[in-house]
Amino acid sequence: MHFAKQNAHHPKKKKRETMAFSEKFHLSDGSEILIEQLTGREDVRDLLNHINALVKEKTWLLVDKPLTLPYEKKWFKEQVKKNRGGKCIYLKALANGKLAATATAERGKDNDNGNVEVGIAILAEWRGMGLGRKLLSTAIMLAKKRWKPRNIYLTAFEKNTGAIGLYKSLGFRQIAVLPNWTRHYGKYESRILMLLKK
Ligand SMILES: CC(C)(COP(=O)(O)OP(=O)(O)OC[C@H]1O[C@@H](n2cnc3c(N)ncnc32)[C@H](O)[C@@H]1OP(=O)(O)O)[C@@H](O)C(=O)NCCC(=O)NCCS
Repeated sequence: MHFAKQNAHHPKKKKRETMAFSEKFHLSDGSEILIEQLTGREDVRDLLNHINALVKEKTWLLVDKPLTLPYEKKWFKEQVKKNRGGKCIYLKALANGKLAATATAERGKDNDNGNVEVGIAILAEWRGMGLGRKLLSTAIMLAKKRWKPRNIYLTAFEKNTGAIGLYKSLGFRQIAVLPNWTRHYGKYESRILMLLKK
């Protein structure tokens, strides 16, 4: 695990310092994974391909139509700004230099900034080997260290039982049901709100 300290004597550069995190990790099949926070130097097309692969697979995400390059470019600009400003931690997991998974931890706005929402998405070929557990626990660890939040929470489609199994095993418990809440391929589906036990 590596936290950059090179800017320790330059307070004005502190915002960029918070983005520097990297750690190597091995999956259960032995593959080496590099986890690092968004740098701002990524090729937006790689991030677009990642999300669109999940959309194509019809996973339980909040989007069910492929995203476009202009949309992703705008999103990327905002994401880099939020990461540099310490409002969000966007982690990417690279296998042989290619994006295999992403996770986010994002603070609420203004008086809601004691609450951090987390999320995760692993490409199909990299599932079931411990990456989801590792990446999400890394996002949680960094959020706790940097922000000392009151609450760490997430929402999941009630039918996404695989993801919910992972969240429970990491210490999240269901605190509410959001009934028929989000459209998913034309049908309104319930979501659950889960809070990480202190
Ligand atoms: C859900 C998801 C993040 C799990 O990632 P993963 O890398 O496959 O998970 P891991 O290999 O780290 O497994 C961790 C635990 O999750 C549970 N789990 C993962 N997938 C599961 C499945 N399909 N069914 C049942 N349990 C599952 C297992 O209990 C596993 O426990 P173990 O460590 O004791 O074996 C991944 O399948 C994914 O990204 N899915 C598509 C996008 C998505 O649904 N994101 C979540 C939106 S709320």
